[in-house]
Amino acid sequence: MKIFADPAELSAWTLSRRAAGARIALVPTMGCLHDGHLSLIAEARRRNAGEIVVSVFVNPVQFGPNEDYAQYPREAEADIEKCRAAGATAVFMPSPGAMYHPDRSTWVVEENLSAGFCGARRPGHFRGVCTVVAKLFNLAHPDFAVFGMKDFQQAAVVKRMARDLDFGIDIVVAPIVREPSGLAMSSRNKYLSPAERESALALSRSLRETSAAFAAAGGEMPWEPRKRAISAALSQAGLRPDYVEAADAETLEPVETLRKGCVVLLAAFAGKTRLIDNMVL
Ligand code: PAJ
Repeated sequence: MKIFADPAELSAWTLSRRAAGARIALVPTMGCLHDGHLSLIAEARRRNAGEIVVSVFVNPVQFGPNEDYAQYPREAEADIEKCRAAGATAVFMPSPGAMYHPDRSTWVVEENLSAGFCGARRPGHFRGVCTVVAKLFNLAHPDFAVFGMKDFQQAAVVKRMARDLDFGIDIVVAPIVREPSGLAMSSRNKYLSPAERESALALSRSLRETSAAFAAAGGEMPWEPRKRAISAALSQAGLRPDYVEAADAETLEPVETLRKGCVVLLAAFAGKTRLIDNMVL
């Protein structure tokens, strides 16, 4: 497995592998890898990628001033071993200085799908995500890139960006990997105390209950009462809801009635830790 820190070296290598006919997959991550990330590498293998590049980069420009950039867990050595074991063929671990010029002044901004939900709560977040993902696309020259449904809005925004800017890169979206308890795997779960981890189960539990109620209602259900019930359940469990929303899974337009093809999107704080989860009906 190759390990790159220099963007130019990654780019030269991926270009040469492409020229040799290899199908290249990119799996962008911020590291502290867990089984959710590793499932994206497995998905790339399933799709017969000749080279699988995993980027591990805690991207400073997608964090707000009061967010956890400094505390974000970094485990380079363990991540390299996990990538190797999962079948990645290259890891890209640049320093922030290698990725961003001090006088950089160009951003990639998606203006529609990124407006609501996490975009509204984390100003500048998706601008930072789109910018780094576009840079990674330009450096890794992938045929396809794999993202997780865990970050539902992010996947939608990246798909839109890739389409709008003619990257010619297929965006593959893989299902959420959960712990046996139902908790969606996340690098930020590391921050949780045992009590917060227990509280956090209310997110996936609310989604399962919503899905069951939706099925029992015959596949159509008003959103407002359910939204109130979920907010109450999250608060009851000791979480502080950030948003509880339902939207069309394609357009991300909010809906008043839950139907097949809607997504329920949740964000809540467990103590200082912000967690997200979602479920497509
Ligand atoms: P990060 O949070 O490390 O996630 C990297 C990728 O793993 C994302 O596509 C995310 O959706 C996916 N992922 C995380 N947890 C998952 C889970 N439980 N099941 C399935 N997939 C999961 O998302 C980012 O990093 C960054 O914003 C990034 C795209 C790398 C840009 O900096």
